[in-house]
Amino acid sequence: MIERVHLAKPRGFCAGVVMAIHAVEKAAKTEEKPVTVYHSIVHNHTVVERLSQGGGVHFVEDLEAIEALPDGGDTVIFSAHGISPAVRERARALGLSTIDATCPLVTKVHTEAKKYAREGYTILLIGDSARHQEVIGTRGEAPDSTILVGVLGQPHKEGSGLNDPYTVQVPDPERLVVLTQTTLSVDDTRRTVEVLKSRFPALVVPPSEDLCYATKNRQDAVKGIAPQVDLFLVLTSTHSSNGMRLLELARDLCGRAERLETVADLAGVDLSGVRSVGITSAASTPDDLVQAVVEHFRSLNPALQVVEEGEWENIEFREPKKLLPTQPLPR
Ligand code: F3S
Repeated sequence: MIERVHLAKPRGFCAGVVMAIHAVEKAAKTEEKPVTVYHSIVHNHTVVERLSQGGGVHFVEDLEAIEALPDGGDTVIFSAHGISPAVRERARALGLSTIDATCPLVTKVHTEAKKYAREGYTILLIGDSARHQEVIGTRGEAPDSTILVGVLGQPHKEGSGLNDPYTVQVPDPERLVVLTQTTLSVDDTRRTVEVLKSRFPALVVPPSEDLCYATKNRQDAVKGIAPQVDLFLVLTSTHSSNGMRLLELARDLCGRAERLETVADLAGVDLSGVRSVGITSAASTPDDLVQAVVEHFRSLNPALQVVEEGEWENIEFREPKKLLPTQPLPR
């Protein structure tokens, strides 16, 4: 029987996710016609499902698909992961108004990419997949100057589009900078940068890291709990990069970790012999999904002990403004 649950703190929604979801909810209320979100607003199935209910919000992977929506309006919201300038230009060409819900910490990496490309640097962009929306968006700022590099410690499939840090070739090793996706493993990213630095001593590493505070804090919370529990449960969708990194970390440190989309997935988890459980959730996972798991354990053991140590974050991002197609594009 489960006797004790350790809830990671912080866990769940980060400031970027809160801002992006509020942007969609507000637009759905204030726009006359349903709004369209380009890509999943955040990488969580429950969030997308909930926003889709009621018909006020559509999700597309292609701006051209908006025209085919029978009730689609002319406002598109860009997801928290960011977009390449080509998507912004396309939206304008289609006469769409835009609400850019890109997380400011992703925008910061875009700004760095533009700056270094302008100065003639080659950018080594470390990411966990060439197909991740954030990697596509950042690379799109300087496609001719960017080389994608995979993270050490993460399996990369053949044809993934990611270069191995041990063998990646660059045009000029004296003019080289490394940038990263915001949601990678802190430890694996550090090791990857060390390998690149040893191969290219002139490599520029920007003064402030690209990995975001939410990624670091959630991984630190897992590190604190993992040695104390028999099993770690991570509530995340599979396409959440930060959530899957939490799962890998928990598995490494605890020996046993399982992914849950919702409490229903507990049916497939072998709990025999498990007395203490750690629980965390991705930066895009609503906390009621975590509470449902705790309540399930409490229903089996009314004396369940719930331990929740650590600090919540106190960070907020400003809500994005709507930009009409006639207004100048941000540079
Ligand atoms: Fe932004 Fe980090 Fe969240 S990049 S969206 S604060 S996971």
